[in-house]
Amino acid sequence: MLQPSENCDLCPRLKAFREDNREAFSDKFNAPVPSFGSQDAEFLIVGLAPGLKGANFTGRPFTGDYAGDLLYKTLLKFGFAKGTYMGHAADGLELVNCRITNAVRCVPPENKPLGDEIKQCQPFLKNELESMPQLKLVLSLGKISHDAVVRTCGEKLSSYKFGHSAVHILENGLTLIDSYHCSRYNTNTGRLTEQMFFDVFELIRQKII
Ligand code: URA
Repeated sequence: MLQPSENCDLCPRLKAFREDNREAFSDKFNAPVPSFGSQDAEFLIVGLAPGLKGANFTGRPFTGDYAGDLLYKTLLKFGFAKGTYMGHAADGLELVNCRITNAVRCVPPENKPLGDEIKQCQPFLKNELESMPQLKLVLSLGKISHDAVVRTCGEKLSSYKFGHSAVHILENGLTLIDSYHCSRYNTNTGRLTEQMFFDVFELIRQKII
């Protein structure tokens, strides 16, 4: 499987940020965050990028920050996870028929990857999609993830408009479902409510039995 190396230098800005973080938080993960869950899953969730004090600290996507609290609560509720989520990579939580990755594997300053950084990370996302033989459905969390998935599948953005709860059938047969990102910002502003997020998973559950 194609993985960014621990000291990946494809993105100079992200490399510099990682080096700063390794100094500032020397006991934390501070490296490209690998995907979580089995490659035999039918369902892949694609986030944006590790949060500084979440996945970048713990080494597991969405683990240790607010976005993860909502995501893992929802995965447990809909049977896509089992165990107890405790916000660290050794909590024993297991994903069920589900895998989680990020469009960008390294933490970006201010949670905002640049266009070129998303492009540099695309081969890893492409390999991710190609390494899941049973993959049926991709959930994109936010427009950056949606755009990265559509581009990675070699398709035109103009053919697939991002929208919360939108369901797209890609030319390669994959179903792509969009959701607003489960970030604290989106839930605080009311752009995404817990119920709206649950409704997306209700839809996914209908497609993955
Ligand atoms: N943590 C992640 O791993 N990805 C996100 O998109 C947000 C938080």
